[in-house]
Amino acid sequence: MLRSAGEEYTSGQVLCEKLGVSRQAIWKNILQLKEAGYQIESQPKKGYRLLESADRLVGADIESRLAPDCLCRRVECLETVDSTNTRAKQLAELGEPEGTLVVAEEQTAGKGRRGRDWASEPGIGIWMSLILRPQLKPQQAASVTLVAAMAVAKGIRECCGLETGIKWPNDVVINGKKVCGILTETSSEPDYIHYAVPGIGINANTPEFPEELRDRATSIYLETGKKTDRNALIAAVMNAFSDYYRRYLETADLSLLKDEYDAMLVNMNREVLILYGMAEDADPEKSEKGVAKGIAPSGALLVETEAGLKEILSGEVSVRGVYGYV
Ligand code: BTN
Repeated sequence: MLRSAGEEYTSGQVLCEKLGVSRQAIWKNILQLKEAGYQIESQPKKGYRLLESADRLVGADIESRLAPDCLCRRVECLETVDSTNTRAKQLAELGEPEGTLVVAEEQTAGKGRRGRDWASEPGIGIWMSLILRPQLKPQQAASVTLVAAMAVAKGIRECCGLETGIKWPNDVVINGKKVCGILTETSSEPDYIHYAVPGIGINANTPEFPEELRDRATSIYLETGKKTDRNALIAAVMNAFSDYYRRYLETADLSLLKDEYDAMLVNMNREVLILYGMAEDADPEKSEKGVAKGIAPSGALLVETEAGLKEILSGEVSVRGVYGYV
């Protein structure tokens, strides 16, 4: 309520009436918010005014920004965890319904794709994992990761005003550098999915990267020079995800999202190198050049090569620009 009142004061009386609680309960809540880092001004005859939100993850703050029909229903907010993916999978095993989001200030064993580590220092990034229970066949669910990348690209654009793109299949990039990585883990039977957990890592307020990553990695802070409100960005990504995910489920593939994905694809109509094997130790003899032509409804990348149009499946190969990461 204070956030939507903007510059205006909201009286204790109005808060009591709208929330149906006592003055004392309001006062206690305001105190808790202040302790959590929110700057709230209280004026005896006018009431309360929110001056600045906290620079920390707050579940109730994220929840209060979710659209009424958002698929994300509950946010579990942790100070530290090994990996939000691991925690979300544990919850899913215990029967947690679709729509619970796990976020953490710090991950001590953040996981990247292809068995790599994912650096997740406290207080500066967004490390989060969402529980989904799609009624799809396991092979149809592979595109959840692409849907999540679209949501991150849109969320950052809306929230931070930055031009974002996607490097196929699911790295979100700004000015040719990676700002977000996604790792989706699933538990399934041959023709049934118990749950899918897309885990999203966004370099939000990272002040700098190690030398060896500087030409490939960036953060929103490095691009804008301003700190991002992580709670607002998480909610924006969840609201966008919810919308894209529903359209994806309508056809169980990306046919309704293909045009929008292609418009975000930084590789579109550019030369790419198809690397068969892990990017670092891929055999250059076996790599192939081509021009990216967008995605197929399955999420595969269409590449025009000398041998004709090929459908490249993620997981099988990696793709990079002829001159570098994009
Ligand atoms: C990549 O290698 O690009 C994927 C990185 C995925 C990192 C995120 S951070 C939140 C979630 N929890 C993890 O352990 N990994 C994912």
